[in-house]
Amino acid sequence: MAVNPQGVAAVLADLKGRDFLSCADFTAEQTVALLELSRQLKSGDRRIDLGNRVLGLIFSKASTRTRVSFQVAMARLGGQTVDLNPQVTQLGRGEPLQDTARVLSRFCDVIAVRTFAQQELLDYAHWASIPVLNALTDLEHPCQAMADFLTMQEDLGSLTGQTLAYVGDGNNVSHSLMLCGALLGVNVRIGCPQGFEPLPEVIDQARNLAVADARIEVMTDPVDAVRGAQALYTDVWASMGQEKEQSQREAAFRGFCLNEDLLAQADPNAIVLHCLPAHRGEEISSGVMEGAASRIFDQAENRLHVQQALLAAVLGGL
Ligand code: CP
Ligand code: NVA
Repeated sequence: MAVNPQGVAAVLADLKGRDFLSCADFTAEQTVALLELSRQLKSGDRRIDLGNRVLGLIFSKASTRTRVSFQVAMARLGGQTVDLNPQVTQLGRGEPLQDTARVLSRFCDVIAVRTFAQQELLDYAHWASIPVLNALTDLEHPCQAMADFLTMQEDLGSLTGQTLAYVGDGNNVSHSLMLCGALLGVNVRIGCPQGFEPLPEVIDQARNLAVADARIEVMTDPVDAVRGAQALYTDVWASMGQEKEQSQREAAFRGFCLNEDLLAQADPNAIVLHCLPAHRGEEISSGVMEGAASRIFDQAENRLHVQQALLAAVLGGL
């Protein structure tokens, strides 16, 4: 699906004031238009000044890329960011979310939340009167998926009909890849050990959203998953909050390392993606991470461009 440049602003006008809690919140057309605006912002074809708007960051988990890319994106839009970590606000001392969200809505123009339960994010969205953005929950990482598909698009041109194979844990990142991929007409194959599949309701949701006959498949053989794929992707085996399961997960995921042998089964021009942070020698080999197929650092950079586009859209700055 293509959006002509004049059409981007018209399509994205509907996102003014909206939350972004899940990849499924936006339509296929809006998702394509956000990628196009991201491309324009990255290339310098488009500059946007929102005029001193303020983004609040409520992060209950560690972050390098998401935090800094949001901060820089807001600065490039002429705005600023305030750090509202629970450790430094009254949230950490038990002030109720419904009070915090309403108070912050009087100071800020938009909030990005990184937390554990998706329900907590939904509660912020319910109580806040400003847009709330998902900066990662245990269920989804939608800003990440947008950056991932921008990276894939940069290499492959059209995304429709391409195949992305994700090898590893059926986690938040895999969920957003399935949903966003479905909207963009990308076939998404998840290769994971039995017992570590994505949630069945998210698989069903992605299949229901799929455009252009995109196939959403889950399989237990990593070689089957990557065969002929145009993009290979992996993420950590133990996500934030699962640190105690690290050794048990290392045993369960043996054979699911994205290494040279797996890469050899993919399309000869396949690219390699990882949301980072990475554990070399666990979910990805050092050689693949640093190899010619890796687009991992372009992917990290693209977090900035898609979040700048997202902020501009929800703040109505187009
Ligand atoms: N990929 C990602 O979200 O990285 P951070 O945890 O550093 O934000
Ligand atoms: N699945 C990982 C992604 C980190 C960006 C986690 O939730 O920790």
